[in-house]
Amino acid sequence: MNVLAIESSCDETAAAVVVDGRVERSSVVASQVEMHAQFGGIVPEVASRQHLRAIGGVIEQALADADVNLDDIDAVAATQGPGLAGALLVGFNAGKALAYGRKLPFLGVNHLEGHIYANWLSEGPEPKFPALALVVSGGHTDLVFMERKGDYQRIGGTLDDAAGEAFDKVGRLLDLPFPGGPAIARRAESGGASDLSLPRAWLAGSMDFSFSGLKTAALHAVREKRWSVDEVAWEFQEAVVDVLAGKTSRLTRELGARQVLMAGGVAANQRLREELQKRCPVPVSIPPPRLCTDNAAMIGAAAGHRLALGERTEIDADIYTQNDWATV
Ligand code: KG4
Ligand code: ZN
Repeated sequence: MNVLAIESSCDETAAAVVVDGRVERSSVVASQVEMHAQFGGIVPEVASRQHLRAIGGVIEQALADADVNLDDIDAVAATQGPGLAGALLVGFNAGKALAYGRKLPFLGVNHLEGHIYANWLSEGPEPKFPALALVVSGGHTDLVFMERKGDYQRIGGTLDDAAGEAFDKVGRLLDLPFPGGPAIARRAESGGASDLSLPRAWLAGSMDFSFSGLKTAALHAVREKRWSVDEVAWEFQEAVVDVLAGKTSRLTRELGARQVLMAGGVAANQRLREELQKRCPVPVSIPPPRLCTDNAAMIGAAAGHRLALGERTEIDADIYTQNDWATV
């Protein structure tokens, strides 16, 4: 089954053609990051307008790259939420219009479920169950236990900032370009250990995360001016990675998971990838960085398994902006 998938929940306009939820035939991502960088963060109205400008061309490119045309497409999928309302509306309505016009099945996909399914796009064996997914993006930080495909039990998550959000905010404190995640990772590489020690919020006994104290501590460290940007970046990254990898590996043991799945933009972080692999007692599935950050191939992968089960979304369905794992 050839699925044309569309993603527009934040600041990337993306389309892809994915076969049977596992094979990526094309994946096109038009990033708006440079447009938003001048404001130091994503401006929702600017994002919506850019999506409108880009969506047609991105879909055409995804079809061309896959060497198919609309006659070869069996179903259309689009991100339904969570995300920025004005941004979601562009891709979701484009998907619905295409499906309606071509009389094709349509499926709305949860963006975070999509991030998890990036793990099904590799050529290797399928991930094993039960699995523990660490979903770390700009808007979410969740530990999600899966006994099978489509089954999600949220065990813990952030009480304040998402991991990616913390990277972005500390990046701003350090005067680094937006988004802060990749910028901090780059500076940390040239930094290294110093006598700076930032706090890890272990929240004893809980599987939740908190990054706001760490962010404030980083602000104080910047103001003190004793450490270089590279040193603060290094220690901040170590503190985030330590807690994410520490809690994920502990929970993997406690729940008897046979597989860890990394998902979301922060999963592109090299230090996090290394530490999870080092500390987890079971195989860690890690999508390539370009499939960790927002893309439409992951939406096509998630749609593949739902469409195969016969699931469809009504053509008059609306978008949603908040996530609820219990109803995914
Ligand atoms: O999943 P994503 O592309 O968009 C959302 O769904 O939010 O995640 C974007 C987030 C941003 O906060 C960005 O700073 C972070 O992922 N990110 C990284 C890295 N690459 C992207 N954080 C740490 N290290 C990276 N290499
Ligand atoms: Zn995302």
